[in-house]
Amino acid sequence: MNRHGGYQGERSEMLDFSVNINPLGMPPHLKYALEDALDGLGRYPEPDGRRHKKRLARRLGVADDWVILGNGGIELIYLYASAFSGGTAVIVVPTFNEYAEALSNAGWDLRLWQTDWDSRFRLDAEAFADYVCQTQPTAVFLCNPNNPTGVAYSPNYIKNLMDQCPDTVQWFIDESFVGFSSKASCFELVDGSRPVILLRSMTKFFGIPGLRLGYAVGHPKLISKMAGVQMPWSVNSLALTALDNLFEDQKYIDDTISYTQRERDRVRAALSKIPGLDVLPSSADFHLMRLQEGTAADLNALLETQKIYIRTCEDFVGLGDAYFRAAVKKKDENDRLIAALSAILTHQKA
Ligand SMILES: Cc1ncc(COP(=O)(O)O)c(C=O)c1O
Repeated sequence: MNRHGGYQGERSEMLDFSVNINPLGMPPHLKYALEDALDGLGRYPEPDGRRHKKRLARRLGVADDWVILGNGGIELIYLYASAFSGGTAVIVVPTFNEYAEALSNAGWDLRLWQTDWDSRFRLDAEAFADYVCQTQPTAVFLCNPNNPTGVAYSPNYIKNLMDQCPDTVQWFIDESFVGFSSKASCFELVDGSRPVILLRSMTKFFGIPGLRLGYAVGHPKLISKMAGVQMPWSVNSLALTALDNLFEDQKYIDDTISYTQRERDRVRAALSKIPGLDVLPSSADFHLMRLQEGTAADLNALLETQKIYIRTCEDFVGLGDAYFRAAVKKKDENDRLIAALSAILTHQKA
């Protein structure tokens, strides 16, 4: 199993910057809806969440067979990998490690397209399109905004990229962090003119990682293949109840967007002033950082003595031991991280 963020140690009071979950928590009314749904645990949910999926499809403005629900976004990555097993995939890295894990488990041939710090981890669209044309892969995997870099492209940019690539290529676009971004969703590209799967995790934006919920949208030809390898009842009744309720509170959604965007900019400006630390601009609810000296693991050990935990990134392809990622959390929590980093790194420089 790949490494993931999330402090797993003994200290319950640890301030965990290694997971990127909405700092405002889940929508307040959701707790009550979940409490009301507890009585339903004595019954089986629908095997594929049909009625809940129908409501979601209506909200999205697509037919039901364009949507599949998943036990977190993660399940949909694994379903896609096994539905089209044995293909060839181009993955833009560094990125979420589970694409490579799921695809290689399902016998895919992987080609990694490396982006680096010097180019701010952004694609060179022309060179990338040339590579895709030469490789003729079954699928291209693009995380937008990308975990762990926070790099995001506009729908227009991605459409241009797709236009330069063969029509046969399936585009797997993971928008799990798009809610936090000022960039628009690529939803308009799921129009049936080319094979696109758009993945949305519900766990990050709505602060429910323990509940497990995600969905994917795509042409019924792709979605039905994924549904064909899905276990029945994979999304439980509480998660299905959540799905019916998540979008009700527009104020919560607006507050989340405005808070994370404002706080992200404030945090980045403060982090950028710390000596010995490079901070990458981000379109998500986290920042990727690079130490000019020393390792992120040593830094994490020092931070842990102050009950702060970050995500070191040595396991991401193309990132070395100097890289780490930290979530944007509540203002006072972010201030604690900024102060701790500033004290440690200023002291090391002196
Ligand atoms: C880019 C990306 N996609 C998908 C997922 C899976 O999210 P979940 O299964 O919690 O919905 C994650 C989790 O960290 C992620 O970072």
